[in-house]
Amino acid sequence: MLPLAALCLLASCQSGTGDSKAAQQAPAAATIEKDWHTLSNADSVKVTHLGLDIAVDFNQKKIKGSAHWDFQFLKSSSSIVFDTWDLTIDSVLLDDGSKASFVLEAKDTVLGSALRIPVKSTNKALTIYYSTGTHPTALQWLDPAQTFGKKQPFLYTQSESIYARSWIPCQDGPGIRYTYDARVKVPAGLMALMSAENPQQRSVDGNYHFKMEQPVPAYLMALAVGDIGFSAVDSRTGVYAETVLLPKGHKELEDIGTMVHTAEKLYGPYRWGRYDVLVLPSGFPIGGMENPRLTFCTPTILAGDKSLVNLIAHELAHSWSGNLVTNATWNDFWLNEGFTVYFERRITEATYGKDYVDMLWELGFQDMKAAVDELGAQSKDTWLKLDLKGRDPDIGLTDIAYEKGAAFLYLVEQTVGRDNMDRFLRGYFDSHAFKTIETEQFLAYLDEHLLNQHPDWKKKINIDAWVYGPGIPANCPHAGDLRFKKAEAQSAAFAAGTPAAKLDTAGWSTYEWMHFLRHLPNGMPVEKMKDLDQAFHLTQTGNSELADLWFLQAIRNHYEPAYPAMKQFLYVTGRQKFLEPLYKAMKATPEGLVMARDIYNKARPNYHPLAQKTIDEILQ
Ligand code: BES
Ligand code: ZN
Repeated sequence: MLPLAALCLLASCQSGTGDSKAAQQAPAAATIEKDWHTLSNADSVKVTHLGLDIAVDFNQKKIKGSAHWDFQFLKSSSSIVFDTWDLTIDSVLLDDGSKASFVLEAKDTVLGSALRIPVKSTNKALTIYYSTGTHPTALQWLDPAQTFGKKQPFLYTQSESIYARSWIPCQDGPGIRYTYDARVKVPAGLMALMSAENPQQRSVDGNYHFKMEQPVPAYLMALAVGDIGFSAVDSRTGVYAETVLLPKGHKELEDIGTMVHTAEKLYGPYRWGRYDVLVLPSGFPIGGMENPRLTFCTPTILAGDKSLVNLIAHELAHSWSGNLVTNATWNDFWLNEGFTVYFERRITEATYGKDYVDMLWELGFQDMKAAVDELGAQSKDTWLKLDLKGRDPDIGLTDIAYEKGAAFLYLVEQTVGRDNMDRFLRGYFDSHAFKTIETEQFLAYLDEHLLNQHPDWKKKINIDAWVYGPGIPANCPHAGDLRFKKAEAQSAAFAAGTPAAKLDTAGWSTYEWMHFLRHLPNGMPVEKMKDLDQAFHLTQTGNSELADLWFLQAIRNHYEPAYPAMKQFLYVTGRQKFLEPLYKAMKATPEGLVMARDIYNKARPNYHPLAQKTIDEILQ
């Protein structure tokens, strides 16, 4: 069904960056794996370019318009198949002027409905006229009250992993790349942005035109519409946000220009033209999304002291790992996320130093351990290579892909030395630019271009234990961190009776505080919570990471003075990483469950459809 051999070939001709030498270096696919999460037949007939023409209707909460697809036959086939989710298909026109008799097949609860369109071998393009359904998983429509500005509505998309199909009929697999252009009509006065060449000023009539010349997979399709302004950081980077949030957003993100330079020094040129960041309203369900040319991010990283901008380093790093070299299927998700966490930490290290980034490695190690505990030490879901056949691909969205993946690369670095590692990674990104890769291809490339150079390296690393084995391998790098040791000493002192005001917290960053809050003693009496709160004003903190951890302690220890602030936090914040632990903790006691349901009743309309689904399941 999926495409990979053909696609890799195609992608290499398509990249058009004079990479023919590089293309020869890439290993031939040893095994060709299906992508189980697309119903399309891109292995036979594959799209090459999208011309999107849509209108955004805030009254009906619908996107309506057409998708004009150019396609190529890789094998003979009597039809081309697209992915759809809840789309209404009005008609399909072929490039010969005839109307196609399409079939929208029965809906799979995870994958949606295949749209099968009969084509002749002479057809090269078609146009699908469609509108979005009542539950488009990629879209969040916000009323003015749910925005910072409170005056205009807002719309944004989140297409990863398989949600693009809920707003565009497409061949929705990470291995299927195409270029696109788009005409988007929005209410006059609003700004529209995409993962493409973007306007910096609003149009008078609400008509916008976009162009994306580098081929991208459907999960990187993105659109945002709202009362959005732009503020330049330097000649190729800038910040978009709702106009009322723009000054704060700019201040917090004013280092992104430097960040791009730092990333380029590590792993080669940024190949996407501009790099801008869009700060979204607080309902955004995740921290950040690496939409090409325009990272989408949550406003919860605007802590006021730049302490959470490593999230931007992460999304920027995806411009290499993920967007440039893309996981072939969601089973290879660690190739996107593990590489990106490793790269993100290298950027952070170059900016803030080793003792700072060591704290992030340590927090990551804790997250990986928690993921292994939750999934089960023997679970196959703790292998780097996943098996998501017949399952929801978002099951793979765990700290295994992120942290075990990053730790594996860290181990490789420590084994071969940093210079060798960096030379290898630069070559990897160059030779695979605008291509997709699966785990086995990567391992063959790693062997050929790095590990073969020294007989001991492979033995030391034990790839199989990492990629096809469960849990945390024995050789997992785990430094233990000096700055955290100091925070732990203060934790212990507090547990032993030192009053909060006497603790030595001078010079602590967000990360020492996170570590401290994660490791407070169990079952703290309310007086001790109050002591901490009075000394450090935790209930009122504007730092979302600390607020989240503090509220978690408040729930566990029944510290009611924090509840009003916590409720406010839950009403407006849609970031699932924060919501899930708090609702789960409340659910642990009968009174907590009552409170959770009460809060959720009010908060639910402010959450993204996917967050609603998650919390519905927790509280059902
Ligand atoms: N690409 C991911 C987000 C994603 C992955 C969305 C899979 C849907 C399915 C993004 O790069 C990401 O990892 N975001 C993290 C932040 C990061 C600093 C770990 C997040 O949103 O928390
Ligand atoms: Zn990521």
